[in-house]
Amino acid sequence: MKITFFDTKPYDKPWFTRLAPEYNCEIRFLDYHLNADTASFADSEVVCAFVNDVIDEAAINVLSEKGVKLIALRCAGYNNVNLKAAQGKLRIVRVPEYSPAAVAEHAAALMLSVNRKIHRAYSRTKENNFNINGLIGFDLIGKTIGIIGTGKIGKVFANICKGFGMAVIAYDPYPAEDFSGEYLPLDELFQKSDIISLHCPLNPQTRHMINSQTIGSMKEQAIIINTSRGGLIDTKALIDSLKSKKLYGAGLDVYEEEADYFFEDFSADIIADDDLARLLTFPNVVLTSHQAFFTEEAMEAIARVTLESVRAFSQNKELINEITYKKEQ
Ligand code: NAI
Repeated sequence: MKITFFDTKPYDKPWFTRLAPEYNCEIRFLDYHLNADTASFADSEVVCAFVNDVIDEAAINVLSEKGVKLIALRCAGYNNVNLKAAQGKLRIVRVPEYSPAAVAEHAAALMLSVNRKIHRAYSRTKENNFNINGLIGFDLIGKTIGIIGTGKIGKVFANICKGFGMAVIAYDPYPAEDFSGEYLPLDELFQKSDIISLHCPLNPQTRHMINSQTIGSMKEQAIIINTSRGGLIDTKALIDSLKSKKLYGAGLDVYEEEADYFFEDFSADIIADDDLARLLTFPNVVLTSHQAFFTEEAMEAIARVTLESVRAFSQNKELINEITYKKEQ
């Protein structure tokens, strides 16, 4: 089976190249994003895409005309795909789970860094500055973590937080039976949490769930952690609340307009996105570039599950990781 692999990163290649023969796959790696302009470069029945590819109706139409039958997303989230437009034209699979621990542990890393100002301490000691003024944090033990979305990642994150001795409260419209924290309505969660961590999908209901009104209802000096999707947070409202010192800080692995910047090196460039540039000026914001998934275990699982889906497709077998418009409803 041939695969046109869009938006290839240097770290993708070794994993997929190593496993491809095992799954009888031949991969053509392309560096650029998949979108309506680049879709015509697909020359195989299977296309492999990533989080910031724009798989809208126009891209889907071009892919379909080129004979593409399957888009294999090498990620869990699929908010970048127009499932309705894909209906009847091509099939979509994703990797629903690769390492929930990878993302949950990164959320914990962000929480600790923001609280204990590890990023600032690191810069200081690198400059032989061993002064600790301004680096004071707070104990996590006894504090309340509010988890929004208690799916695979949210549950692992809850257990990590319990390990710190935190009180765990959560909101999820579909509560999990095996979740041991206390479920509360969303407005109560906002009022009671010292730290809020987002682990729900981005969809029309959740877009900008963190906005000026919900931030206003939070405790003074709350911390917001987002390893889910940038669009969950209204960035301008976040910036305002950081400027007014309402929040203690934010740990962000995702950003609303990340597609233009994340995963690329702009160190010799000017950042034209004023909101991103502003966020980077805050000493109490730790921003990572959508790397929460990025562990060896997760990369191996992503490559395997993606190639297993391609093999199942080539053998006309059931696609267990298929996502369809109907399922989304
Ligand atoms: P999951 O599907 O297992 O869990 C999502 C949970 O969110 C479900 O329990 C669902 O009921 C809940 N939910 C749905 N609508 C909600 C709402 N309006 N409010 C609160 N909760 C709601 O997904 P999983 O694997 O835990 O992933 C969570 C998110 O993490 C994904 O949607 C994805 O965007 C993000 N992610 C980020 C990665 C990164 O590298 N930064 C890597 C993998 C996933």
